[in-house]
Amino acid sequence: MGDYISNPVMDVILSRRSTKDYQRGVQISDAELSTILTAGIWAPTARNTQHIRFYVIQNPEVISTIAKNFSDFAFNDGKVRDFCHGAPTFIMLTGKTDSNYLDVDAGIAVENMSLAAESLGLGSVIIGCLKNYFESEDGRKYASTLGIPEDHTFSIGIAVGQIATPPQAKPRVENRITFIK
Ligand SMILES: Cc1cc2nc3c(=O)[nH]c(=O)nc-3n(C[C@H](O)[C@H](O)[C@H](O)COP(=O)(O)O)c2cc1C
Repeated sequence: MGDYISNPVMDVILSRRSTKDYQRGVQISDAELSTILTAGIWAPTARNTQHIRFYVIQNPEVISTIAKNFSDFAFNDGKVRDFCHGAPTFIMLTGKTDSNYLDVDAGIAVENMSLAAESLGLGSVIIGCLKNYFESEDGRKYASTLGIPEDHTFSIGIAVGQIATPPQAKPRVENRITFIK
């Protein structure tokens, strides 16, 4: 890949990791939450449609209900998977179902948010595993109880909290760049 120019943005990009163990019951502050949401809101969207919506879930019972519903849907073995890894805040990103760019727009926003979390010294992990559940009939019904409109679809989520176990860097696969000069 070669050298890169070091600056504060590159420092945050290169230090971000997916945190998979959070301090239980330690909530992020409202200022931290607002900063992360600002980063999401200011992400670009194709044709500037700004259709991505952010559902901030800080109610542990709602997180537990999603965990149970998702586990029953995906595994159906009676075990509940903590998809949030103990994080106290889970933010769901939805967008217009008929948008060609639903996942791209939501993906750009969620990465902005994970970098904002990193810049604040918080851990985060992008959560995609709920997608099939939220696209199912049961998942759509449950989503409507959270206020998600019928013409919106879950794209991606992000769990955020204080890091309990710092994650290790995962080495990047090499030789993925082709230069055409
Ligand atoms: C689109 C997407 C979906 C992901 N979904 C999950 C998930 O559902 N659960 C999870 O624990 N991690 C999830 N991750 C985190 C990846 O496992 C993680 O980014 C990858 O292992 C690389 O680790 P790093 O982020 O620390 O570099 C997801 C990441 C991306 C980009």
